Amino acid sequence: MADDFIPPTADEALARLDMPLVEAMRTQRAVRRLHLDPVDHDLLVPLLELSLKAPTSSNSQDWSYLVIEDRAQKARLARLYRMLFRVFHPIEQRRAAGDEAALRRMRPGQWQAEHFEQLPTFVVPCYRRNLKHHPVGWPQISVSSFYGSVYPAVQNLLLSCRAVGLGASLQTLPIWMVPAARRILGLPRSVVPVCVIPIGWARGRYGPTTRAPIGEVVHVDRHGHRPFLGREFPSVVDPAD
Ligand SMILES: Cc1cc2nc3c(=O)[nH]c(=O)nc-3n(C[C@H](O)[C@H](O)[C@H](O)COP(=O)(O)O)c2cc1C
Repeated sequence: MADDFIPPTADEALARLDMPLVEAMRTQRAVRRLHLDPVDHDLLVPLLELSLKAPTSSNSQDWSYLVIEDRAQKARLARLYRMLFRVFHPIEQRRAAGDEAALRRMRPGQWQAEHFEQLPTFVVPCYRRNLKHHPVGWPQISVSSFYGSVYPAVQNLLLSCRAVGLGASLQTLPIWMVPAARRILGLPRSVVPVCVIPIGWARGRYGPTTRAPIGEVVHVDRHGHRPFLGREFPSVVDPAD
């Protein structure tokens, strides 16, 4: 699908990293409609490097990024994803039946599933099982430390993509069938794929996003005690308020 979009150079894009943090956080969202132009490695690699300033449990840094750009490899991943998408998407559609806004919100996901192998770049953040951290098992704290050692870097990457104008979204459905994903990606058993981040120049719009009011989410001292419910605070999320 050709269009008239001209991507910025890597230098121009990297200069956008000076976007105020608050603006990037306020407007970062799942951007699933992407231009199909390739993403320059002179831009991608610095963003990956920046994202890895994130913390890991015990500073283990047992992470790796698998970057997928090969068309045949993307096609294999797309086949796996669409198989799962065809199962779960109709369930989501039935749930949203009658809610036009919710059905509209699902369209970019549909577009993305249809164009999956054409999307420019996929980043698959992975984590290696190590003596302390396992993806499954008892006690549950190890599960938390395992995935929690990847997601801070993932969010860093999503924020930096937002700042430079790359569309990105966090997805787990494409790798839900972990053994199949592992085979496609050529991962050893010790390396666990955590999610998939398709990246390309944004066609879809960034923020603002809709989230529950802070008073509903914050509990103080014990669950159920929500003293901020219904109270007004200065807002950095919507400064106009
Ligand atoms: C753990 C996790 C898994 C996700 N998996 C998928 C996925 O498989 N497919 C997808 O389209 N979006 C996926 N998302 C993206 C969410 O649907 C999205 O962030 C959420 O709906 C909020 O969207 P917004 O940031 O655009 O407001 C996932 C997000 C998280 C945090």
